Amino acid sequence: MVKLSILYDHMRWEEKALYEACRKRNIEFSMINAKNLSLELTSDDKPENIGDIVLQRCVEYFCGLYLTAIIENYGIRVINSFKTLEICGNKLLNTLIFKKHNIPTPRTFVAFDIDSALEAFEKIGYPAILKPIIGSWGRLVSLINDRTSAIVALEHREMMFPLYHVYYIQEMIKRPPRDIRVFVIGDNVPVAIYRINENDWRTNTARGGRVERCPVTSEIRELALRAAEAVGGGVFGVDMMERDGEYIVHEINGTVEFKNTVPATGVDIPGMIIDYAIKEAKK
Ligand SMILES: Nc1ncnc2c1ncn2[C@@H]1O[C@H](COP(=O)(O)OP(=O)(O)O)[C@@H](O)[C@H]1O
Ligand SMILES: [Mg+2]
Repeated sequence: MVKLSILYDHMRWEEKALYEACRKRNIEFSMINAKNLSLELTSDDKPENIGDIVLQRCVEYFCGLYLTAIIENYGIRVINSFKTLEICGNKLLNTLIFKKHNIPTPRTFVAFDIDSALEAFEKIGYPAILKPIIGSWGRLVSLINDRTSAIVALEHREMMFPLYHVYYIQEMIKRPPRDIRVFVIGDNVPVAIYRINENDWRTNTARGGRVERCPVTSEIRELALRAAEAVGGGVFGVDMMERDGEYIVHEINGTVEFKNTVPATGVDIPGMIIDYAIKEAKK
């Protein structure tokens, strides 16, 4: 029998649901708390209890990313892979991959200096959006209405950690007050939701976005699968926006949350993720 490990750093609703899904399936599995690990990189000793396949669910991006690298080095498969997670966790790399695979995505500039960033804002035109290249839940994703606010935001960024000196500047898509989160599990697209927010222009559920089921049309399915394939395949939340009847993908999330989607849609996402992981382990 294959053994599955769930690697986590915070026991959220999601990880509890994944645990329950494992229990219900009567499979061999272990829960590994990343916070308890101290790993010797120069030895072959693996963490106790590690299975044949690992489902990586860390909230802390770098914790999840580097543990994935270490576990893959033991020869153990991780969902999602290091290569995939590295692209998904980084908006700059996301955009490059989308461009390479002809996936419609917002027009985006990158600059590494305030004056060059201001030039990028002029080229895109206001309003435009400044985003950190690594981050989630809409944090520091800033709507910039004019040159004055651009300077304020860039000056604040200058006082932060060097990662924030990578100025990722994007056109504002004129869309309804919602976006679409599409779940991809392997080659399956089980469900999609609208995230609707009338109080914040950012639709993240972490910012109060409300959830409604969105029908998975063949167009949405195909685009989501293309985005997933472009980053190497696995388990994802593909985020898209609607503009004039077209879909534009702004990011692909590699450790997707589903605590709002499951109650709103009744779709058993945790169960499907576990079934997918077991199937992959047997391959
Ligand atoms: N180019 C854009 N045009 C319009 N709205 C956007 C754009 N980019 C992001 N948003 C809004 O901001 C939210 C957060 O942006 P996102 O790039 O997904 O960052 P995060 O990784 O923090 O979720 C999105 O869910 C969407 O509602
Ligand atoms: Mg997002």
